[in-house]
Amino acid sequence: MASASRAQFSSRFGFILAAAGSAVGLGNIWGFPTQAANNGGGVFIVVYTLMVIGLAYPLLVAELTIGRYGQANPVQSLRSILPSGSRWLGTLLALVGLTAASCILSFYAILAGWLVGYFLSPILEAIGLTGVSQWLETFSIGRNLFLMLLFMWATIHVVKSGVAEGIERWSTRLMPILVLLFVVLIGYIFTQDGAVDGLKLFLIPDFSQIHPALIHSAMGQAFFSLSLGVCTMMVYGSYLKKDANLPRTAAEVALIDTAIAFIAGLLILPAMFVAQNHGVTIYNDDGQLASSGTLVFDVLPAMFDTMGAPGYLVASIFFALMVIAALTSSISLLEVPVAAAVEELSQPRNYAAWTIGGMISALSAVIIFYFDPLFDWVIVASTEYAQPILGLIFALLVGWIWHRDQVLAELQKGNPAIAAGWFWKIWPVYVRVVCPLLMLYVFFA
Ligand code: PHE
Repeated sequence: MASASRAQFSSRFGFILAAAGSAVGLGNIWGFPTQAANNGGGVFIVVYTLMVIGLAYPLLVAELTIGRYGQANPVQSLRSILPSGSRWLGTLLALVGLTAASCILSFYAILAGWLVGYFLSPILEAIGLTGVSQWLETFSIGRNLFLMLLFMWATIHVVKSGVAEGIERWSTRLMPILVLLFVVLIGYIFTQDGAVDGLKLFLIPDFSQIHPALIHSAMGQAFFSLSLGVCTMMVYGSYLKKDANLPRTAAEVALIDTAIAFIAGLLILPAMFVAQNHGVTIYNDDGQLASSGTLVFDVLPAMFDTMGAPGYLVASIFFALMVIAALTSSISLLEVPVAAAVEELSQPRNYAAWTIGGMISALSAVIIFYFDPLFDWVIVASTEYAQPILGLIFALLVGWIWHRDQVLAELQKGNPAIAAGWFWKIWPVYVRVVCPLLMLYVFFA
């Protein structure tokens, strides 16, 4: 059980920004807008929002509740909700969860590294270092390794400083900057011709696009975006004070995450059509909109290039925004194995952050060396399989195994009246039956 000196978030606001920081990441800025554009615009937005409310939100409450009840890393937290004979299952699930979190971080750090490169490149070009600037934008093993290590270094640096001093402090600094940069860029992009076409593609529903694959994409997107299934929210929940109202806190986090995904759509798709106006091709030969990778690394930079001097600035601001969003997510991913090592193996935090961060960097390096077979494979295995399957298991544990009185008692700590309210009438049945069935349906449909 928790020691009296265990770290906590210092304020509710700090927690919300840290958890929203974990949730808001490349999934929102990079994934959501292109998914929406390719899946019927407004239709995808509606289905996605329904997935967030109907599936991701209840599971977010479940993960936060397990963590706060356990007041410990995922190994202990998951063990604490299981009956004494089956605690090994908790250990096993936590190990799978922290391995999955490490795998997500291993590819995330490569992507984020490229973004760091694209952030630095315009600055270097502006001061005349054209060679270095081009190197940073050209795919090579050396560049990929260098930038990945730079990003991992930043991630380790935050996590080694602890929950309040590292994670909370940096999230509360970075998240407002992120929102500010969004506002600046959206304001700018809408002064450019073509922006409105992007807005139309994003918002106007195309009902011919409703099919099972759309629901599957929306579910995957919601899981990834809310950082579910890989114990990140469980660990953050374990640092929450006992008087925090869990359903409300989770709702705030889900709302911020969804709002930022939406705002990202208001930036990215208009930017794409502005790029088209500048002569950049944004559709593939088969009529599909360029993939998100092409969009971020080809289309947008090509557009910034056509803008002359202001283009350098706009490009750097845009990539700074992406890097910030990625960093507040990567720290939550690294915190999962680090919290387990600190508490289960009694390692000092500094040492645990460097060793585990080093091991994940080594994994990233392997992916960089064997990029073609490994990169996509790790993404699919960790986000399309591990995340939803673990999420399903957590729902089953909370719904069927964890003692209902204990769940209620935990929720009542931040909300004494909860037993009489609508949330408690719906949520337990919901995680018990509806979430698992919905997930199985989407899996097999
Ligand atoms: N939610 C993050 C994003 O949208 C990614 C993430 C997934 C972070 C799982 C932590 C855990 O980019």
